[in-house]
Amino acid sequence: MKGLVILGSTGSIGRQTLDIVRAFPDRFRVMGLAAGSNLELLAKQVQEFSPKAVYYAKGTANEDAIPRNGWRFTPMEEMVQDPMADVVMVGTVGRAGLHPTLAAINARKSVALANKEVIVMAGNVVMAQAQRNGVEILPVDSEPSAMWQCMRGEDREVLRILLTASGGPFRDRPLHTLDSVTQEEALNHPTWRMGRKITIDSATLMNKGMEVIEANWLFGVPISRIEVVVHPQSIIHSMVEFADGSVKAQMGPPDMRFPIQFALSYPQRWVNQELPKFKPVEIGKLTFEAMDMRRYPCFRLAIEAGQKGGTYPAVLAGADEAAVGMFLSQQISFGEIPKIVESTLSAHKSVQYPSLEDVLDADAWAREYAARQMAD
Ligand SMILES: NC(=O)c1ccc[n+]([C@@H]2O[C@H](COP(=O)([O-])OP(=O)(O)OC[C@H]3O[C@@H](n4cnc5c(N)ncnc54)[C@H](OP(=O)(O)O)[C@@H]3O)[C@@H](O)[C@H]2O)c1
Repeated sequence: MKGLVILGSTGSIGRQTLDIVRAFPDRFRVMGLAAGSNLELLAKQVQEFSPKAVYYAKGTANEDAIPRNGWRFTPMEEMVQDPMADVVMVGTVGRAGLHPTLAAINARKSVALANKEVIVMAGNVVMAQAQRNGVEILPVDSEPSAMWQCMRGEDREVLRILLTASGGPFRDRPLHTLDSVTQEEALNHPTWRMGRKITIDSATLMNKGMEVIEANWLFGVPISRIEVVVHPQSIIHSMVEFADGSVKAQMGPPDMRFPIQFALSYPQRWVNQELPKFKPVEIGKLTFEAMDMRRYPCFRLAIEAGQKGGTYPAVLAGADEAAVGMFLSQQISFGEIPKIVESTLSAHKSVQYPSLEDVLDADAWAREYAARQMAD
């Protein structure tokens, strides 16, 4: 039985992680659940899984709704260190997962990482700490998981990674109308159902740029050898080309429970009858297109920040989280997201080999700078 801590248990990744736990009740014991403010759902999860440790954003209404069945309020950094915990699923969003991820690595837990912003912001710090502690980061994001699965059993002589992108909801929308897309349109992803922040990042393709940075850190493949190809069906989750020119693709229905389960069952594979079957005849054909860079300025900004390195990726992540938050609270238009991120990056003075403190400073500065632009 694996002891499991789930950070962000009320979110899309967290809920699907609990679906996997429900499918394998004899394999997991939920030791800790952490959420933000959805205490109604957290209460149900606490009732069902009886964790020892629970965290939520203090001051949220309805704290009393969580059944008092023996749990203790425990900060995330402490929760991940539980001696009975083997795996920590980091399903928080944005900066929230950074400190708990580092605490889990220091405590030598297996870290199943969905919260990609953590590695985008602080890739050098996270990877160095993981290496020092002999901890493997298990990718949960479907594309890095696909790359990881393609590379298993290979000698890692990777020529090229072909990272697939659905292209988001605005792949065919006339360019001149992109500035004025509504929140409802941006939140309507064609193939994946996800949390709000990543759904907006998927519409701007910031998410894809962040995945390039994530893959660069996780697999040590230079950004210049990671190519993004638009694949609207989201069936091939990524491909890896090896030294001899052979290409492996990992594919399956677009359902996050597959990569979540693989991260949790690793190095085994388990039978799960609840997951959808791959039906190639029903899918018919798989298509590929080049990416139209004019359509996705956020993607370009992410690639540039990843290539420059230093604290640029932390600024990218911080400014993006701030700008997406402003869009979601209807303070700025969709077209202003890349403008705010770009001007924040332009004003930044990067630290080349950042410490954790440098990363946190850069992130805080970026959020403040981004917010000030809206006020101006
Ligand atoms: N969803 C996907 O299919 C998918 C795929 C690949 C990668 N990812 C990555 O996985 C991460 C999570 O995505 P998601 O779609 O699951 O997001 P989500 O649905 O918005 O869930 C985020 C979770 O984090 C919690 N949270 C937010 N702020 C917190 C804080 N300060 N302290 C503790 N918990 C906090 C939320 O709690 P409340 O809801 O209770 O406030 C919620 O449980 C993101 O980094 C995303 O890029 C997601």
